[in-house]
Amino acid sequence: MKVTVVGAGNVGATCADVLAYREIANEVVLVDIKEGVAEGKALDIWQKAPINLYDTRTIGATNDYAKTADSDVIVITSGVPRKPGMTRDDLISINAGVVKTVTENVVKYSPEAIIILVSNPLDVMTYQAHITSKFPRTRVIGMAGILDTARYRAFLAEELNVSPKDIQAVLMGGHGDTMVPLPRYTTVGGIPVTELIDAEKLDAIIERTKFGGGELVKLMGTSAWYAPGSAAAQMVEAIVKDQRRVFPVCIKLEGEYGIDDCYLGVPVILGKNGIEKVIELDLNDEEKALLETSRQHVLEVMKVLDK
Ligand code: LMR
Repeated sequence: MKVTVVGAGNVGATCADVLAYREIANEVVLVDIKEGVAEGKALDIWQKAPINLYDTRTIGATNDYAKTADSDVIVITSGVPRKPGMTRDDLISINAGVVKTVTENVVKYSPEAIIILVSNPLDVMTYQAHITSKFPRTRVIGMAGILDTARYRAFLAEELNVSPKDIQAVLMGGHGDTMVPLPRYTTVGGIPVTELIDAEKLDAIIERTKFGGGELVKLMGTSAWYAPGSAAAQMVEAIVKDQRRVFPVCIKLEGEYGIDDCYLGVPVILGKNGIEKVIELDLNDEEKALLETSRQHVLEVMKVLDK
């Protein structure tokens, strides 16, 4: 299996590294616009192979998309990250053009690939890649839900002093402050989380999750990369190994949840064809209202892209 990662910044390089050391693909091509950066990072990852014992071939390319030809999966991380004080939506003016150009280039060489978007604002960059590629919606997928639920699960694991492995959760909506964590669907080793934590503490964790990306931007002066890069790699793994994992991801909704005009995070089954199935949860009125607020927010940003 061949996987291309476009953007050799922190997120792209982390994703390529995870793909390599976990041997998720046979070949990983890392592409960047900055002369030598992708080649350097790919070489560094390859030189780590004899130490960490893997044989995934990693190749770098400066803006040479011919090297990405016939990729099975393409991860787009290109664009700029936010700085303190910015929202993800503030990045649209720069990142929309970048994602459009990158998408045009990758589809030329890999017309059958599955595209995973990581660039922000995530839901609208998924829209951009979808309309640019003209691929079916099942092959243009945004990575956000795995990252947001990972933050939620990590905070819960810390609070309950249990392994994060035992926390299962789902989260819906846009990748922003209006995201919708779903405590009703959160369990700890099969036990509903509401039986283990009081409502006030759970609410505080939900709020922290919504602003989880911003917390890191404030601490580091730039966006996170370890968890986002690993989350994208986990999606690649589900696809190339046809694992049929159940993850929340961003996709164009076509009637599911009564929505057909918006790109939002929903739980899906992820396998060799990309989105194998969208799972429709039976949301209660409160959850539906939160999802609608999130839809309205994403629609506003989609309108900015349309203009
Ligand atoms: C994240 O959630 O870490 C990413 O979307 C990057 C960011 O700026 O928050």
